[in-house]
Amino acid sequence: MTDTLTITRPDDWHLHLRDGDVLKDIVPHTARRFARAIVMPNLKPPVTTTAMAMEYRQRILDAVPENQAFQPLMTLYLTESTSADEIRAAKASGAVKAVKYYPAGATTNSESGVSDLSRVYPLLEVMAEQQLPLLVHGEVVDSRVDVFDREAVFIERELLPLLRAIPGLKVVFEHITTRDAVQLVMETPDNLGATITPQHLLMNRNAIFKGGINPHHYCLPVLKREEHRQALVQAATSGDPRFFLGTDSAPHARHAKESDCGCAGMYSAHAAIEFYAQAFDEAGSLDKLEAFAAFHGADFYALPRNSAQITLVRESWKVQETLRFGDDELVPMGAGEMLPWKLV
Ligand code: DOR
Ligand code: ZN
Repeated sequence: MTDTLTITRPDDWHLHLRDGDVLKDIVPHTARRFARAIVMPNLKPPVTTTAMAMEYRQRILDAVPENQAFQPLMTLYLTESTSADEIRAAKASGAVKAVKYYPAGATTNSESGVSDLSRVYPLLEVMAEQQLPLLVHGEVVDSRVDVFDREAVFIERELLPLLRAIPGLKVVFEHITTRDAVQLVMETPDNLGATITPQHLLMNRNAIFKGGINPHHYCLPVLKREEHRQALVQAATSGDPRFFLGTDSAPHARHAKESDCGCAGMYSAHAAIEFYAQAFDEAGSLDKLEAFAAFHGADFYALPRNSAQITLVRESWKVQETLRFGDDELVPMGAGEMLPWKLV
């Protein structure tokens, strides 16, 4: 049995850091574990220009503890008025690594997103030409579609038409949650990649209702059936380079989650690589963790792999019940529970 695991320092290819005062509480968790992270642009107001992304990047860097070398990789928030010049400026900046598509109304701060993707196809052609990946929140916004089916329906209605229309575009199907998404990625050429979160590897939808309704296990896309969780574990541990680590760690104040209309989002940055180690270990595939966490994403984004390393040990430790979040607190994933893997 492996009790010590040393791997190349991983990257997080999907992360929410928020902005302002809370950065100093949030950024250090990721910076301790990861060399780089793709930072989501769904702030209020959203990060729609390269100038905004550069300023946001600096605020994140200001919150990185001195002894850590963490690089935020920035994204732009796609709107129906994003211009081709903005796309070119983003690429030229070197700091913006992707553009995020939120179907309008799909999730937290997605109001300014796109309501008809085909309307921005000309812009996506420019992204293909510039080799700037499109990151998709893959859920349809349609009240007639069951919330548990929104990812599968998104594949049919939006993703397949997009992949056919612009085959040269690199696309990341973010935080996939279903067997349908796994199959699609496996059947598509390698311009399509996918990120997988720790919560979708470790939990099924029973976790939302276990012992009473638990708002801290509510995220979007929502947790799915056990068969889907198993398909995700198989994909993540398969060694297929199109699947890579993206936590979707998304902090919300405790009161915003424990509310009569609780926000979507799970916070996992405080123990992210530890959760993945647990999931890979449970699947008997610890040997596949390094490539999933540190190689596949970098290769997909055509960025150099990291050279530093981290070490995890099999040693149980207790997750704090709450963490500081500016003037508030948040309840992290696994709060009060024992985790089997610890970061040295
Ligand atoms: O659960 C989620 N939280 N899903 C998202 O897509 C957004 C995120 C957030 O920003 O809170
Ligand atoms: Zn997200």
